[in-house]
Amino acid sequence: MAAESFRNPYAPAPIPDDRTAPDPEETMSRDQIESLQLERLRWTLHHAYDSVPAYRELYDEAGVHPEDLRELEDLKLFPYTDKEFLRRSYPFKGFAVPMEQVRRIHASSGTTGQPTVVAYTENDLQTWGTLVARCFRLSGLRPGDKVHNLYGYGLFTGGLGAHYGAERLGCTVIPMSGGQTEKQVQMIRDFEPQAILSTPTYLLTVADGFTRAGLDPAETSLRHAVLGAEPWTEEMRREIERTFGGMTATDIYGLSEVMGPGVAGESAESKDGSHIWEDHFRPEIIDPFTDEVLEMGRPGELVFTALTKEALPIIRYRTHDLTRLLPGTARPGHRRMGRITGRSDDMIILRGVNLFPSQIEELALKIPELSPHFQLRLTRPERMDRMSVHIERRETVSVETAQEAARTLQHEIKTQIGSSAEIVVEEPGALERSSGKIRRIYDERPKPTDRG
Ligand code: DLL
Repeated sequence: MAAESFRNPYAPAPIPDDRTAPDPEETMSRDQIESLQLERLRWTLHHAYDSVPAYRELYDEAGVHPEDLRELEDLKLFPYTDKEFLRRSYPFKGFAVPMEQVRRIHASSGTTGQPTVVAYTENDLQTWGTLVARCFRLSGLRPGDKVHNLYGYGLFTGGLGAHYGAERLGCTVIPMSGGQTEKQVQMIRDFEPQAILSTPTYLLTVADGFTRAGLDPAETSLRHAVLGAEPWTEEMRREIERTFGGMTATDIYGLSEVMGPGVAGESAESKDGSHIWEDHFRPEIIDPFTDEVLEMGRPGELVFTALTKEALPIIRYRTHDLTRLLPGTARPGHRRMGRITGRSDDMIILRGVNLFPSQIEELALKIPELSPHFQLRLTRPERMDRMSVHIERRETVSVETAQEAARTLQHEIKTQIGSSAEIVVEEPGALERSSGKIRRIYDERPKPTDRG
């Protein structure tokens, strides 16, 4: 594609003078948003079809053309895409602009094999910064706040994505990245940031770091935490807010393929799920088995279409994240997403019962003698699936009391989820910590290929 033929009519707006006020798009009505979506969707479909061979092939094969989109509902006519679709264009064949226009590349490693490569033009980066700034503002951060950023810097979108969003809001960023927990404790003490950006589980590790240093995490300068990159529960929110002495913890959601952090963000006032920035992304919820589009409120798999992306068009991308769409509250024109209950690929099927680690988190955190640090181990002795929950006791609790609490947890798992689990109480600090996304599931069952 010739460089000069490419022009995006939706180039991002300049940084507003008053950074505490919502962007004009945030306060648009539902009707205004939907007409903007239709316009932008037309552009996106044409852009993808004209510039990315994989989209052209996909649509030609399905017998659809960008011109077939007359109303938003017509998006249904276009086939879904997924990680596999992107991987086939590895590394750069999915880019819709010449490489000279690509300013940055990120990649998500996934658990196995080839990474998924994502790209951004100058305009894409501006939009990203604007949307992350929106999330932070909604989370209660203000220009002038010092922000301690624990998200990993590098190919992961978390570090740099959060970084530029905080700068755009007018904050002072402390670019720590994850790890070196003792150093994090020192920097938080010395620099006195008002806000912290982290995965929920790594923030708990930092809290433990304070305790180990003989300090009370409730006494820090931190007032706000903006947490994401992994599933977390309301119980975890309460745990974090309590541990840090009444701070406000809000959610930020995103994924590399769609942009990175900042696809959706939560209001500190309503704390009722993240608003999806629908001037840039059109969400759908589908039944992951039948592929049917579900109406608002029904749980299913989240699918995204990015409406303004230049470098890497994303259309009807299956995220594997399970949630539901809800009407907007703090930003009524934009729909909210419920909490992510899990990823369809993280679902454990244990003797016919489906369960997610978040359900265990919810139950475990209701038992004060047990800590939020746990792992699920799956084994198959004598061809029967078994799950054991390895969970640390709280430092202040005796082994006997923790054993008693473990019996309560076992009972709760049986009655609430319907699964029999063995509970193994571990010593405080015994389980592996992660400076980024936590790994909860250790599946030691034989793979279908080596079944014997
Ligand atoms: O995790 C982007 C991000 C960074 C989001 C920092 C928020 C904060 P990926 O590495 O591509 O990108 O992983 C995306 O992480 O599909 C979800 O399964 C999960 N995820 C992200 N945010 C949340 C959240 C980043 N708030 C995948 N709640 C997504 C639950 C989340 N899961």
